[in-house]
Amino acid sequence: MIIEKALSMHNLTKAEIITILKLDDAAPLFVAADEARARYVGPDVHLRGLIEFSNYCHNNCLYCGLRCGNSKVKRYRMLPVDIIAAARRAKELDYKTVVLQSGEDPFYTVDTMVEIISGIKALGLAITLSIGEKTYAEYQAYKAAGADRYLLRIETTDKALYEKLDPGMSFENRLRCLNDIKALGFETGSGMMVGLPGQSIESMADDILFLKKLPVDMAGIGPFIANPDTPLAQYNKNNFELALRVMAITRLLLPDINIPATTAMETLSPEGRIKALQSGANVVMPNVTQTVYRELYQLYPGKVGIGQTADTSKSIVEEKIKTIGRTIGKGKGFRGEYLEKLK
Ligand code: 5AD
Ligand code: SF4
Repeated sequence: MIIEKALSMHNLTKAEIITILKLDDAAPLFVAADEARARYVGPDVHLRGLIEFSNYCHNNCLYCGLRCGNSKVKRYRMLPVDIIAAARRAKELDYKTVVLQSGEDPFYTVDTMVEIISGIKALGLAITLSIGEKTYAEYQAYKAAGADRYLLRIETTDKALYEKLDPGMSFENRLRCLNDIKALGFETGSGMMVGLPGQSIESMADDILFLKKLPVDMAGIGPFIANPDTPLAQYNKNNFELALRVMAITRLLLPDINIPATTAMETLSPEGRIKALQSGANVVMPNVTQTVYRELYQLYPGKVGIGQTADTSKSIVEEKIKTIGRTIGKGKGFRGEYLEKLK
């Protein structure tokens, strides 16, 4: 009943979301989310080439392997020319979008980022930035240089939990950043981890409603994976199915947004990304970072694709997408494109 309501109305109360999250059998939820995905974003899977250009981070999030307190990581930074070269490689592989991701690394000043963004825009690619909390003026400069999209996960909407897990960071500032990003006209992405220590089912329902309220244009939702080199090492649990439920409900409530099948899902379950694509997801972000850097960019252990090159990462994913009867998106895959085309 609740699932049917979600599929037709795209609205649920917090209590209804909690009921679905607690269902014994979530199979009907996944079927409904796949139906919403088919109706609103169609059969295309959009590929975004992911460039992890620096693993330096001045933050110390308790869950993340790149936290500044983790002295085990060998740190690297790619130079602007190398980042632009990686984007050129992505273009040769037929990507239409690149995602530039890094820790919060002050080495990349506004001017440096503008240089990188302009260099990549000149190639005709869409650019998604995922580089953390900045000032309004910085976001504005990135936008003016041509960045199209910005990803900043809220991580959890439980303010007390957020501030415990992200020492020195403020939930208010996170919200300020997301509001600035939206106000500047970026396609805005947010999302959360599912299964964090101390995270309740109730707060997961709040997380979903938060994405709906903003609203986001993209939602990245992945299971929390305990990293042995972090203070949360002991919280080892398989959160795959729960994360898949949160993702599927998000698809039902925001039927036309872009939702990636996250790498963290693949890490926790064989064919996890494919299962996600069949439960509401419509985007995959294959890695185009040079192989030497991939193993150094480990937010959590067991990341897939570490030994692969940019072209093998892409062809493996494409093959799988075709076997489940889906197609590879040929355009830039902005929100709402599919519905526009149907008109
Ligand atoms: N498990 C799962 N996801 C993680 N992230 C960081 N650390 C982990 C972890 N241990 C996610 C955060 C961040 C994104 C880039 O990676 O949600 O926003
Ligand atoms: Fe840095 Fe992001 Fe990791 Fe936090 S989650 S430590 S901000 S890279």
